[in-house]
Amino acid sequence: MATALPIAPDSADPTFDELLAARPALSLHARDGLLVEEVPLARIAAEYGTPTWVYSAGTLRRRFRALKAALEGAGLQASIHYATKANDNQAVLRVLRAEGAGADIVSAGELRATMAAGIPAGETVFSGVGKTLEEIRFALTQGIFQLNAESVEEIDMISAVASEMGVKAPVSLRVNPDVDARTHAKITTGKAENKFGIAYDDALPLYTRMASLPGIRPIGIATHIGSQITDGMSAYRAAYARLAEMVHALRAHNLPVERVDCGGGLGIPYRDEVAPTPEALAGAIKATLGGLGIPVMLEPGRWLVGPAGFLLASVVLQKRGAARRFLVLDAAMNDLLRPAMYEAWHGIVPVSPLARTAALSSADIVGPVCESGDTFAKGRLMPEMVPGDLVAILDAGAYGAVMSSTYNARPLAAEVLVDGARAALVRVRQTHEDLLASQRLPEWLAG
Ligand code: LLP
Repeated sequence: MATALPIAPDSADPTFDELLAARPALSLHARDGLLVEEVPLARIAAEYGTPTWVYSAGTLRRRFRALKAALEGAGLQASIHYATKANDNQAVLRVLRAEGAGADIVSAGELRATMAAGIPAGETVFSGVGKTLEEIRFALTQGIFQLNAESVEEIDMISAVASEMGVKAPVSLRVNPDVDARTHAKITTGKAENKFGIAYDDALPLYTRMASLPGIRPIGIATHIGSQITDGMSAYRAAYARLAEMVHALRAHNLPVERVDCGGGLGIPYRDEVAPTPEALAGAIKATLGGLGIPVMLEPGRWLVGPAGFLLASVVLQKRGAARRFLVLDAAMNDLLRPAMYEAWHGIVPVSPLARTAALSSADIVGPVCESGDTFAKGRLMPEMVPGDLVAILDAGAYGAVMSSTYNARPLAAEVLVDGARAALVRVRQTHEDLLASQRLPEWLAG
């Protein structure tokens, strides 16, 4: 009989007003509905269609400045290398660059993107477990600031390429500190079983070996223990304390250490998580690495851009199944993959001002893709909605557009940047023609 009952909404969910109150980019206008900065989302939908990613330049700036101030406030000599993988849109990169961001990249494609946005390779870190020879060569040719090496095999590859080019590659060793960041299993990276980094006990011999290779200049050590870390500072502290210990051990062997790369991972509140502040992170770095007398680096992605982005979508239809009410959107898992991939919770707020006074009842919010996993949210309190009504999916600035696909032959959505009262298209919506244009038929099937 349970199937006949509507699923009880999770009463612990924050209300619309609570979600807005915690997101300074958003406000509700009595006539225009939900605004990002000073621009009504309804106007963006009318002008550019849906689904559309909307980014708040003001939020990007505010967050970058807050992080920088926290690091300075702790008296740290620190540089911020934005993890480009979180959002590689040129406009986003330029806003962050204007604030002074360097970059953390994981592919030649990302290096091209960051350089195109004016971030010099000389302020860019190249991370990742599988850099190809071509990518290493390209990065060295551009004058990359630092390559974070993750295996003995990779160190040999880097040395070979660099020697052939007649240069010494600046290499930092990514150490796996074997700490549990207690985040989602798919985004934890600092445990011994993960593919990332070099086992702690192998680091000293490997660093020694790096110093003896012709194409390598060892410059430091790095770590990154996971993403969306909301569980206080204990995992960070444990990891950084191990790095500090390692620096002492390297120095005791007369090995030079110029800097320590602290990685990224700082979490944000999507629902009601109590996320650590940048001040707490700066404090943990200061307490563990502050006494070494060398600069530190950070690679934040989500914390900078996550809360600055929204996925604006239209209701295609509202349907009543046997047991549930469904709101079917024109956005889907091919646009925002996080709920399907990590069971991620994202706030979803109606754009219309009328929705605030409407009666709410439980609904599942889904996309049109042919998979049950194409579900943005289950059992949310939502008003009755009709085709064309708009919703904003919150905190979609990080790992949103970058993880999109064209599954179900759905073109990649448009992207819009809002800056005060201005809004501009910063990525054109893909067309069906675009999807077909790169395909080729063998001559025996053509015609
Ligand atoms: N540095 C390295 C070496 C990384 O692998 C990552 C993220 C970062 C920095 C930035 O981490 P953040 O500050 O953004 O947490 N797609 C997943 C997240 C994957 C993170 C991968 N590495 C998600 O949507 O939750």
